[in-house]
Amino acid sequence: MKHVYTINDLRQNTLPADARLAVLGYPVSHSASPQMHQAALDALGLDVTYIRLEIEPGGLKEAFSLMRGLGFIGCNVTVPHKLEAMGCCDELSPAVKVLGVVNTVHFTNAKICGDNSDGRGLTQALEEDFKISVRGKNVLVLGAGGGAGKAIATQLNQEMCERLYLSNRTRSKAEMLAEDLNKAGTGTQVFTLGNSAKELEEVAKNVEIIINATSAGMKSDDELPIPGAFISPHHMIYDVIYNPPLTKLLLAAKKNKAKISNGLSMLVHQGAISFEIWTDKKPDTALMRAAIIS
Ligand code: ATR
Repeated sequence: MKHVYTINDLRQNTLPADARLAVLGYPVSHSASPQMHQAALDALGLDVTYIRLEIEPGGLKEAFSLMRGLGFIGCNVTVPHKLEAMGCCDELSPAVKVLGVVNTVHFTNAKICGDNSDGRGLTQALEEDFKISVRGKNVLVLGAGGGAGKAIATQLNQEMCERLYLSNRTRSKAEMLAEDLNKAGTGTQVFTLGNSAKELEEVAKNVEIIINATSAGMKSDDELPIPGAFISPHHMIYDVIYNPPLTKLLLAAKKNKAKISNGLSMLVHQGAISFEIWTDKKPDTALMRAAIIS
């Protein structure tokens, strides 16, 4: 078993005999998806191996075609393929139609179906970590114009949170997203803002949940995406970043006695949703989580 396979392995079928699931990226060697999914597959006694496939940009169509020929069930797609994957699918889920981004592909007999499990992964993570439903809640999404932020905001709109505040450093991206979300007419009130302290202070007072979907916090010298002083004990703070497990934002929130959680639970739940799309079986999420941190 190799750590990473390539298009040549697909062409020559030099893959493990039971390789039926994969994550496709470029690069892809860092992906934790194989260990997470393999743990769940093994626990259910499914004779399926989940592999990493390094596919160059522009190579997805050929890869999908070869994979179907080899009997693959489906795959995850990650950077930089999430957009390209859309054009390689025959059918797109409603979430993908709004987001324009695929992270899960299912090969059925007749079709290649594209879905996105990120947004649902986040709301399931909030349910598990904070024991809440987002319906009727007021939520601030930081970095709403980025890839993760868009998926999260779209799901929060779909699940009818009360007021949804979309903050983005480049405000125009939040405004474009708000336009799309308003078209869905779910009843959620959508507002946009930039990321200045002045704008964030006012909004922070009006929300129970704050989600960081910016990449600020991955590096130790990053600024906080919202000043810690705006966080109070009534807040639930979710940071999509899971490495490091305790970002500066989460440390500040903990100090101010807010409830906190990191993106590990989102990673696990989006994975579990993909798993169910492929297998029609519910995986053991505790096992998946343990496999990532082991
Ligand atoms: P993507 O997810 O689209 O690939 P990204 O570069 O990882 O993009 O950025 C994700 C989000 O983090 C974006 O909303 C980005 O804001 P812009 O749209 O203005 O670029 C936001 N972001 C990245 N670094 C940030 C920082 N230091 N402060 C605030 N927001 C930041």
